[in-house]
Amino acid sequence: MSARTETSNDIASESANAIDLVNEDNSTTKQHTHIGQAISGSNINWEAQSPIKLIAHIIDNFHEKHRMQFQQLIQLTKAVKLKNTDHCDYPHHLESHLSQMKYELEEHMMKEEAILFPMIMKGYYPSGPISVMEAEHLEHEKALEKLTTLTNKFTPPHDADEDWQRLYAKIHELYNDLNEHIHLENNILFMQG
Ligand SMILES: [Fe+2]
Ligand SMILES: [Fe+2]
Repeated sequence: MSARTETSNDIASESANAIDLVNEDNSTTKQHTHIGQAISGSNINWEAQSPIKLIAHIIDNFHEKHRMQFQQLIQLTKAVKLKNTDHCDYPHHLESHLSQMKYELEEHMMKEEAILFPMIMKGYYPSGPISVMEAEHLEHEKALEKLTTLTNKFTPPHDADEDWQRLYAKIHELYNDLNEHIHLENNILFMQG
């Protein structure tokens, strides 16, 4: 079945099926990791690829990368804050905002990996869970815009030290990566059903 389901009973039933699918194949993510590694780094038209390949690409090149990015960014923010806490341009809400984003994104990616992606890989495109993910993407986009504001569009002050410059460059990279990640899911993966 490839059509999106419509009723709440269908969604509940398919969610239960998804858990069964995860239990049946708990090595799914690892298997896809190999596929994703094989195809990452090349210019691919994802609309012409299978959902299985796209999911592998998303997990390997975005989910795993974001997990590392947030860990590094929060560490680097702490270091920059220590040296620049009295600087008039230092954004004191940056660390808490990154921590909140990390928490929300980890929860979101876990739901995709444990529930939604296994369903899509079996040909199910459940409208309820997809709508929830799309709504959460909107929240991620709002969080990215706040990140843009906090960092003055990723522009450190003229007297910023090397770490501060590196921090904003890495936050800019996260901004681009997360927007690309959301685009691949909203406009390609979720539309393939
Ligand atoms: Fe994702
Ligand atoms: Fe997502």
